[in-house]
Amino acid sequence: MVDIQISDITLKYDDFVAVDNISFNIKDAELVTILGPSGCGKTTLLRSIAGFIRPSSGNLFIGGNDVTHLPPQKRNTAMIFQNYALWPHMTINKNIEYGLRIKGMPKEERMRKVREMLDMVQLADQGIKMPTQLSGGQQQRIALARALAVDPQVLLCDEPLSNLDANLRIELRQEIRDIAKNLGVTTVYVTHDQSEALSISDRIVVLHSGVIRQIGPPESIFNDPDDLFISQFIGDSNSLKATVTKSSPGSTVVEFGSGESLTLPVANPPAKGSIVTVVTRPNETPLTKESFDHSVKVKVEYATFMGDFTRVLVTMKGGKRLVVREDKRVASEFDVGDQYFLTFTPTKTHIFHEGIRMR
Ligand SMILES: Nc1ncnc2c1ncn2[C@@H]1O[C@H](COP(=O)(O)OP(=O)(O)O)[C@@H](O)[C@H]1O
Ligand SMILES: [Mg+2]
Repeated sequence: MVDIQISDITLKYDDFVAVDNISFNIKDAELVTILGPSGCGKTTLLRSIAGFIRPSSGNLFIGGNDVTHLPPQKRNTAMIFQNYALWPHMTINKNIEYGLRIKGMPKEERMRKVREMLDMVQLADQGIKMPTQLSGGQQQRIALARALAVDPQVLLCDEPLSNLDANLRIELRQEIRDIAKNLGVTTVYVTHDQSEALSISDRIVVLHSGVIRQIGPPESIFNDPDDLFISQFIGDSNSLKATVTKSSPGSTVVEFGSGESLTLPVANPPAKGSIVTVVTRPNETPLTKESFDHSVKVKVEYATFMGDFTRVLVTMKGGKRLVVREDKRVASEFDVGDQYFLTFTPTKTHIFHEGIRMR
């Protein structure tokens, strides 16, 4: 069992607090992603798990052992980085073998392990090449093989796919997940890319300015955000300012300032008169020629061909703008100035008061 417990950890650079008193647990063999914008403290947190940064307060446990004061080489973690960090003067075989040699593994066993690792990352015939003879994706596979060769208890990944192009990123993220799951290695994966986090994680920790904003499985982070930052950071969204005109549990009415209003099933609404932000996703607000419950009148500003879908920008009475995603209709079906009804899906429309989700 190698669960990780992060307990009231604060990480500082001189006086600057990069990670502010955070706590969470990672289960044995779980793949947890730390997701957040650049500068939010992801690398700092990951490096503290590896032991390169000591917390100014708090404790870190790996497999139940307090490792807070252990140096990196005594923690049995391995790390992969955005820039691969392979040793350029060593062959692929030597790169993978290095950690095994340090451990004092006999030569034959080392060779067997190197072959096993190369097979695992599907580069069996590349061992005698130098790192620069491989593509970026292949180099990252080798970095993964090198990291896992020493049988670490914990795999740490710091934006390992950020230097690769889109298609390869999608392929490799799945491969990293599959390998981590096959080996059962507890994995902490840092990324700023929400689609990467959503697609590979058992759970996501959303970090913002050194503070945890939400922890949960991808579906709950995406569909059920706790605060406004998350609802806007993860996935596409529309945000509209509105005023609560009826604060009634189960059927709260918000008004958009244009005379148009929307009734939402909020159990604990803020007081009448509160200013709230209404957030919905572009694929949850269909455009139709007739009106339904929860419809508002809109006018088309323009429609754009996006390949898989059509992106339609519409304005409500009073000028509020929303983006709508139409999967079935082409851009040429929408003319500038066309009138439509946009229908909200109440269960998929969230309201936030002072940044906090009202449920
Ligand atoms: N060595 C350092 N000295 C001082 N400040 C640092 C150092 N490394 C990072 N920081 C600051 O700490 C914050 C978090 O950085 P980092 O953990 O690298 O964020 P992320 O990986 O999420 O982009 C940033 O504001 C960054 O400028
Ligand atoms: Mg970073």
